[in-house]
Amino acid sequence: MTHLLILGGTTEANALAKSVASQGIPATYSYAGRVDNPRPQPLPVRVGGFGGVDGLSRYLRAHAITHVVDATHPFAAQMSRNAIAACRDAGVPLMALNRPAWVAQEGDRWQHVPDIDGAVAALSGPAQRIFLAVGRMHLEDFAAQPQHRYLLRLVDEPGALPMPNCEVVVSRGPFSESNDRALMQRHGIELVVSKNAGGSGARAKLDAARALGVPVLMIDRPALPQRHELTSVTQVLDWLAHSGVNLGV
Ligand SMILES: NC(=O)c1ccc[n+]([C@@H]2O[C@H](COP(=O)([O-])OP(=O)(O)OC[C@H]3O[C@@H](n4cnc5c(N)ncnc54)[C@H](OP(=O)(O)O)[C@@H]3O)[C@@H](O)[C@H]2O)c1
Repeated sequence: MTHLLILGGTTEANALAKSVASQGIPATYSYAGRVDNPRPQPLPVRVGGFGGVDGLSRYLRAHAITHVVDATHPFAAQMSRNAIAACRDAGVPLMALNRPAWVAQEGDRWQHVPDIDGAVAALSGPAQRIFLAVGRMHLEDFAAQPQHRYLLRLVDEPGALPMPNCEVVVSRGPFSESNDRALMQRHGIELVVSKNAGGSGARAKLDAARALGVPVLMIDRPALPQRHELTSVTQVLDWLAHSGVNLGV
């Protein structure tokens, strides 16, 4: 009996959940539990960490999981590493649903940094108005550069912020280039800091930056051990069908 586990929290995972539910494939959707009101899913949902590699291995066995699709964000590297190790340990086939990274186009002014620490170090210069589009989790790191005026866009209303000089926009996306251009103009943005998340939902800020000639500090993706990856929901459904899952029940 098939039981698919989707490691979620992304637009891609949501699209996969919709297709899987419409095909009648038995599946569970897993959220880390980072946001206050996660999107409802058309599948049973579980919330919270598994407890590392061992916890996930136990979960896979206890729930007789037959397939895992890691559709987490490209920067959710710990979860992805755990999934690789736990699936190997439990003998469960694993597929990653991973959006391609963004690539600079003509007119883009990107400076690449390898990680969050690299981005923080690159901001050591004089005060600028910065659109810090990295989510809530790494804000504390940027408190090391308090001289800037930061524009933050967050999914939930934040509590106390670690930097003295910031404005917050609470919004969940997807975003449009024209709205992001207007937002950046309104705040006089001189630099965008972005993770190379890929996908369409969050790229509006990059299109807006190009249109405005604003430079981007681009944080490259974390490296992961070798794994099987696909880039579309259709490909994942094909993989499931070829792995013995009965589609369209
Ligand atoms: N990082 C980003 O920029 C970003 C952006 C948008 C959405 N997200 C989503 O937010 C979630 C957390 O991201 P993160 O960067 O904090 O991940 P992470 O650093 O790779 O994960 C840290 C721990 O959180 C738990 N976890 C992460 N994703 C989980 C999931 N889908 N289901 C159950 N537990 C999960 C795991 O805990 P245990 O070790 O206890 O199992 C994992 O070891 C992910 O699901 C990701 O798809 C992340």
